[in-house]
Amino acid sequence: MPLQLGDTVPDFTAETTEGTVRFHEFIGDGWCILFSHPADYTPVCTTELGTVAKLKDEFDKRGVKPIGVSVDPLDSHKGWVNDINETQNTTVNYPIIADSDRTVAEAFDMIHPNIDDKATVRSVFVIGPDKAIKLTLTYPASTGRNFDEILRVIDSLQLTATRKLATPANWKPGDDCIIVPGVTNEEAYEMFPGYNAVKPYLRYTPDPTK
Ligand code: BEZ
Repeated sequence: MPLQLGDTVPDFTAETTEGTVRFHEFIGDGWCILFSHPADYTPVCTTELGTVAKLKDEFDKRGVKPIGVSVDPLDSHKGWVNDINETQNTTVNYPIIADSDRTVAEAFDMIHPNIDDKATVRSVFVIGPDKAIKLTLTYPASTGRNFDEILRVIDSLQLTATRKLATPANWKPGDDCIIVPGVTNEEAYEMFPGYNAVKPYLRYTPDPTK
């Protein structure tokens, strides 16, 4: 069965562009985003990997370690990283797993044979400090991912992980949050004084992180 939200991610040891990584050790006590690429030396992937490198400060601020994976060998990754740095005007500053035996791709169900029986799709796994999956996304090879959206989702995941709050459609940091249905009105008065009940089930409160 494919990995689902809440599942503990498989542990593995892999060669990467930054040396050997033991995955659970790599995650440590922080957050992680594992994202796959169909193959090395492909155009969309080149832009995605460059984009993540440029956003590294944003991932750092949130305590999130990025790690890419592609089913090509380490030598190929190293040559490709030079191209990414040159063409995207950046320096790749996080590891890319060399998954030529597809251990990681198979463990995370990143190969979808009805699309391609060799290359991975564009999978994203956001993993929490408890090593559990908090979010998955699957894009086809032809569509590059929006990493600003992934940062926005991480902001929501981190805000809601420790509070009885959810975030509404198109929420962004600073916007009002929603009190989750399981909270009684009495509890809501205690936790979120002055909250705004538009309907009994639709209760807004300011973003507590701002
Ligand atoms: C790409 O990464 O550019 C790509 C890979 C496979 C198919 C289409 C695009």
